[in-house]
Amino acid sequence: MVTAGAAHPPQPKDRPVTAKPITVADFVRMKKAAQPIALLTAYDYYTARLLDACGIDGILVGDSANMVFYGESTTLSITVDQMIYHTRAVSRAVSHALVTADMPFMSYQVSPEEALHNAGRFLKEAGAAAVKLEGGLPIVPTVVRLIAAGIPVMGHIGLVPQSIHRFGGYTVQGKTPPDRQFLSESASALAEAGCFAIVLEGIPADLAAEITQQIPIPTIGIGAGVGCDGQILVTNDLLGLFEDFQPKFVRRYAHLAQTMREAFVRYVEDVRARQFPSKDESY
Ligand code: KIV
Repeated sequence: MVTAGAAHPPQPKDRPVTAKPITVADFVRMKKAAQPIALLTAYDYYTARLLDACGIDGILVGDSANMVFYGESTTLSITVDQMIYHTRAVSRAVSHALVTADMPFMSYQVSPEEALHNAGRFLKEAGAAAVKLEGGLPIVPTVVRLIAAGIPVMGHIGLVPQSIHRFGGYTVQGKTPPDRQFLSESASALAEAGCFAIVLEGIPADLAAEITQQIPIPTIGIGAGVGCDGQILVTNDLLGLFEDFQPKFVRRYAHLAQTMREAFVRYVEDVRARQFPSKDESY
């Protein structure tokens, strides 16, 4: 909302109007062309609009929303309906970036048929172009089922947050030889099943680089080093809005929580001192 008297905020540099929507095939082409792929998360219309205008390649409506939007301590309790709500807001804002929706915990693990029903909702009701599923070899049959129905799938392996209780904490994965082998075989199986990209989260940089060389589809790293084909961060982390903890792999490009605190304190002070509104801000 623009309020009377508010300074016009600086606008992002507009994309050329000819910019076409990015497709899953473009992601694979970008890998072949060694063109790094930039993704961020969004959960609302205005953030998604800014990201899209700034030329981001992909927007993930992550189930991280459960933590950074709803204040829960894990991603586990968010529902399909909540994710549809956020995905619809994001899709409405985006004309260029590829919008991928995260499938919540237990919306795809029970059976491929249930996964298909839930995944279809993200494309039909929420305007997503793809869905993301966590897990390696065990979820390959489900991935095959979704892709056969025309639903593009992004894989996600490594430190997958929906398995936090199995891991016993946010600990780096792929540190032992059997673990490395499982992740490497999972990446190949997901690529063979038809995934268009795979998120590699919280694994050693050398393993991520090895997997990136080994598979024909792009790897998108988060806490997986610079050897991936692309990178993703949770936008609230990048903006310094989420301050509860800062993983080693997060780079804060802004400190918005501090900026917001300062603005809120100044507003409260102004109201209490009858310094707001001014004559110019009144009718
Ligand atoms: O939920 C999420 O935001 C994610 C990314 C961190 C990859 O899965």
